[in-house]
Amino acid sequence: MNTLAGKKIILGITGSIAAYKAAFFVRLLIKKGADVKVIMTQSATTFISPLTLSTLSKNPVITGIADGDEWSNHVELGLWADALIIAPATANTLAKMANGICDNILNAVYLSARCPVFIAPGMDLDMWTHPSTQANIQKLISFNNLLIEPESGELASGLIGKGRMAEPENILTFLSNFFRKEHLSLAGKTVLITAGPTYEPIDPVRFIGNHSSGKMGKALAAKVVARGGQVKLILGPSKLNIAQPGIEVIRITTALEMLDAAKKHFAQADIAIMAAAVADFRPKNVATEKIKKKANQDEMNIELVKNPDIAATLGNMKTNKQILIGFALETEQPVANATRKLNKKGFDFIVLNSLKDKGAGFNHDTNRITLVFKDNKTQEFQLKSKLDVADDILDAIEQVTKEKK
Ligand code: C5P
Repeated sequence: MNTLAGKKIILGITGSIAAYKAAFFVRLLIKKGADVKVIMTQSATTFISPLTLSTLSKNPVITGIADGDEWSNHVELGLWADALIIAPATANTLAKMANGICDNILNAVYLSARCPVFIAPGMDLDMWTHPSTQANIQKLISFNNLLIEPESGELASGLIGKGRMAEPENILTFLSNFFRKEHLSLAGKTVLITAGPTYEPIDPVRFIGNHSSGKMGKALAAKVVARGGQVKLILGPSKLNIAQPGIEVIRITTALEMLDAAKKHFAQADIAIMAAAVADFRPKNVATEKIKKKANQDEMNIELVKNPDIAATLGNMKTNKQILIGFALETEQPVANATRKLNKKGFDFIVLNSLKDKGAGFNHDTNRITLVFKDNKTQEFQLKSKLDVADDILDAIEQVTKEKK
């Protein structure tokens, strides 16, 4: 479904090197049949020429409150638009937006706009992580602006990290999903997902871990976004590269770090899915230097202590409105054991992974699951791709949500 056809879109471009990507973005919008008007700040015009953007958008580019002897009516522009997208948004523009400063046409249109506002920041790593930028972002989110998270990678400065403006294709997907939201079942919902293994350090070079890949969590996150939801993905050590608007990846290493992150974000979550393979135990003491084997040493013991149960902790914090889902991998009496876990941890239902099927579980792209519900009902599924499994799990979550109302 092309949800952008006929949509009136104002693209605000500010002075970041990522401004060059705005040309591609305008082309994508025009191809989708959107009506695009471009506003540029003065510093944006030093990165890309207004002529390029007026040619691509088929509309004059607005760069000042007055262009020649014509006044650009910011109120009219703000009312005309179905969406205002500021891409790239510099730290400077974000700061102005967060504080109501209005010293150029773009900020005047922002303050006058009644339509949804999307912000795609683009800046260097340290500017993005600076507490003042992060505080401005939080403020802008609290004003109901929609953040299109910057992506990680090489930055124009040569630094590597988060700060690159999201790729035009990803901004387009975010926008299309937004306009589809009337049809999107998880629009407005925040879903917390734990995924991947945890690594429990023994010394600076060794750890206790497991083979979980994080693939099931990644598939769930992608499908939540496809249904219009926002994801906070708390991910243990995983090789997976996850850079998709709508998914905030919080990388952690140990179970204790996963617990902290889960507790921090749970209150804002409508749904939490515990897909992580958390280490049950961790070394009691972590050596500060690499442990050396001694001459004639044939045995070595590591004392372990129990890790906290993250799922059960959230189960205790859970309100009536929140939905909590767990995973289980059982070798004996799977349904009975899964039911016991479901009650103990406060899950609304539990996803039982099969150990019997080739291609199911750790590191595979496929999985075969059985859902076990509170009333002892079970629902079995065939071996499927993890993306299709994610859809089955989300369908069941939506069903449980309806029954709760
Ligand atoms: O008890 P068991 O490890 O089989 O429980 C599995 C479920 O509990 C999974 O959803 C897993 O993510 C979660 N879990 C957890 N914290 C732990 C152990 C398990 O969140 N320490």
